[in-house]
Amino acid sequence: MKWIKIFNSIEEAKARLQNNKPQLVIIQEKRICLVLRDDRFFAVQDRCTHNGESLSKGMVNYLGEVICPWHNYRFSLHTGREAASRSGDLKTYPVKIESNGFFIGIF
Ligand code: FES
Repeated sequence: MKWIKIFNSIEEAKARLQNNKPQLVIIQEKRICLVLRDDRFFAVQDRCTHNGESLSKGMVNYLGEVICPWHNYRFSLHTGREAASRSGDLKTYPVKIESNGFFIGIF
């Protein structure tokens, strides 16, 4: 796995993201949907496994699921699993925060 720095600090990450509002990040040609939710960060693949819509155009519900804007499939930000098993799991990416920055692990 390769750790890619995307922000210089957790403060910058929090300033650039809105709580529960998915943000598209493109790292080494991978499209990643990044979410700040109640002081935790989640990174999942941006491409919906149902029909390819961009999940960063969707929203996050009270359960911590990202909802695809096209057909409303709901994916756990923790596991990537679709709530009703209607399509495949999203790839999830680890996030780490260190004194020198905010990183996403790419594999
Ligand atoms: S494309 Fe995402 S639910 Fe259909």
